[in-house]
Amino acid sequence: MSAENLAYALVQVAHNFGAATVVGAALAAFWPSRQTTDAQRRLGWLLLAGWAVQALSGVLFGAVSLHFYGQPPDIHGVAIAALVVKIGCAVAGLLCAASLLRFSSQWSEAARWRCWHALAAFGVVALTAAAFLRWYA
Ligand code: HEM
Repeated sequence: MSAENLAYALVQVAHNFGAATVVGAALAAFWPSRQTTDAQRRLGWLLLAGWAVQALSGVLFGAVSLHFYGQPPDIHGVAIAALVVKIGCAVAGLLCAASLLRFSSQWSEAARWRCWHALAAFGVVALTAAAFLRWYA
């Protein structure tokens, strides 16, 4: 197995588990039933870690390409748009999860659930964009 394949595969492992976490942990907060504030806090930390892993492993994909080919991944058009959407979701997801952990004790119940729904939406949109990045790259 070449070093390049191994590097891509290891980054992909982190990226895949990160993707499962950012979608799964956000949905688990309110579906099939709403979790207690204690459980929401634990899910919030999981989500923050998941978004951090996504951003870091996403950057590592670029780093592996730079290392082995001397240039970032060669993508155009729809693939670039999909990547921008994913980066936007990662930034928004990180900020949203951090705000939830830091400030939600002062928020109304309704505001907290709005934040959870937004977090789930960022995950779902990013995962959808990943399919477009994959097949238009
Ligand atoms: C800073 C944010 C991100 C960056 C820079 C990034 C970058 C990348 C790159 C370069 C690939 C490889 C594309 C290819 O050549 O096939 C990839 C794959 C993938 N990304 Fe991301 N990503 C980011 C965030 C996310 C997020 C938030 C999710 C999901 C919630 C996600 C899900 C995936 C999945 C599932 C794949 C594999 C697609 C496939 O091969 O079928 N990514 N990402």
